[in-house]
Amino acid sequence: MVSFLLTAMALASTAFALPPVVRDFGPPTTDGFPNPNPQQLLAIEQRADGMAPNGPLPSKVASSTITALQLIAFNENFEVAFFSSLLGNITSKVPGYEDKDGSMAKIIDTILAQEELHALGVIQVLQHYNQFAPMPCRYQFPVTNIDDAIQLAETFTAVVLGTLQDAVQGFAKGGDDAFVRLFASVIGQEGEQNGFYRFLGGAKPSESPFLTTSVASFAWTALQQFVVPGSCPFDLNAIPIPLHAPLMLQNAKVEAKDQVLTFTADLSNVQAAQAYVGKTTCQLFITYFNGQLLPISVPISNIRWNGGLMTFDAPFPFTENIMEGLSIAALTSGNNFAGPDDVPAQTWAAPALIQVVDKY
Ligand SMILES: *[C@@H]1O[C@H](CO)[C@@H](O)[C@H](O)[C@H]1NC(C)=O
Repeated sequence: MVSFLLTAMALASTAFALPPVVRDFGPPTTDGFPNPNPQQLLAIEQRADGMAPNGPLPSKVASSTITALQLIAFNENFEVAFFSSLLGNITSKVPGYEDKDGSMAKIIDTILAQEELHALGVIQVLQHYNQFAPMPCRYQFPVTNIDDAIQLAETFTAVVLGTLQDAVQGFAKGGDDAFVRLFASVIGQEGEQNGFYRFLGGAKPSESPFLTTSVASFAWTALQQFVVPGSCPFDLNAIPIPLHAPLMLQNAKVEAKDQVLTFTADLSNVQAAQAYVGKTTCQLFITYFNGQLLPISVPISNIRWNGGLMTFDAPFPFTENIMEGLSIAALTSGNNFAGPDDVPAQTWAAPALIQVVDKY
C-alpha cells in the first residue's frame, strides 16, 4: 500500500508557504462567463451536457442561506478559473500537460462548462434576491503539471464535498428546503468528478463510506490561498464568514498508519493566543474531521515558538478511526465537541488538509 500527502495542498494551507506568484489567472475569456448572453449560455449548456435548472425560486430565503450561497459562488468562480487554466495548459501543450489522445481536453472542457453552470446558477439566485453576488477574482495555483493539478482538484473537490454538506444542513435549519434537491444533485455531480480524479491518481474512486464533513469558515479560509491578494472586485467582508489564522502541516507524507504530525500555526493575529506566546505548555488540541465521525480531538505537545508562529506535534489516530481519504485538522482550545458546528468558535487556526490515499 502506498499512500501520500498532497504536498502542494498542505503547503498551500498557509499564506506564508505559498511560492511566489509567477502568473495569475482569471475567468475564461471566450465563452461569456460570468455574463453570458442567451446564445453563449446555450453554448455552455451544450458543452456541459445539460441545461441549467429552470424551477421556480421560493419567495424568500434565510440570511444564513444567502451567506452559504455566497461562499458557494465564490468557490465555483475559483473552480471555473482553475479548470479554465488547466484546459488552457492542456490545449496549448504547456510542458507537463501532455494529453496523448485528446481525451483529457474533452473531459476537462465538459467539467469547466459544468462548473460555469454551477457558478452562474448560484450567482443568478443571489441576484434574484438582490443580494451581493461575488464576481470572479484573480487566482494562483501552486501546480505546474497535470498530475499535481489533478491531485489539487481532488483535494479542493473533497473540501467542497464536505462544505456542501454544511450548506445543505444550513438550508434545512433555515427552512429553505427549496434548495435541498438542487444541491443534493450538485453534491453527486462533484462526487462523480472526484472519483475520476482519485482514479487518475491511482486511488480507488470511492474514498470512504461517508465523505468527510467541513464547515463554511474552514472552506472560506482554505480558498484564500488561491486568490491573488487584493484581486477580488469586492471587499472580502461582503461575505460574512470568519477567516481563521493559517495552520500548516509540516509532514511531507501522511501514510495510512498511526503517526505523529507536526503543525505550525501563525497565531500572530489571534487575540486569545497572545497570553500563551513563548509558553511550552498549553491546553490546546488538534481536532480532526474525518468522514461522519464526531470531531476527534487529541492533545498537542512539544510546543516551540518563533515569534507568533507556534510549531507543535499531535498524534494522527489513523488505526482507531480508519482515517482514509481527507481529514481536516484545526488547532482548537476545546475538545469533546458535540458536532462539527461547534468547532469554529473554539478554533485558533485552521484548516490543515490531510490526505491519506491508499493506492489499490
Ligand atoms: C497552468 O500552467 C501555468 C504555467 O506552468 C501554471 O502556473 C498554472 O498553475 C497551471 N494551471 C493549472 C490549473 O495547472
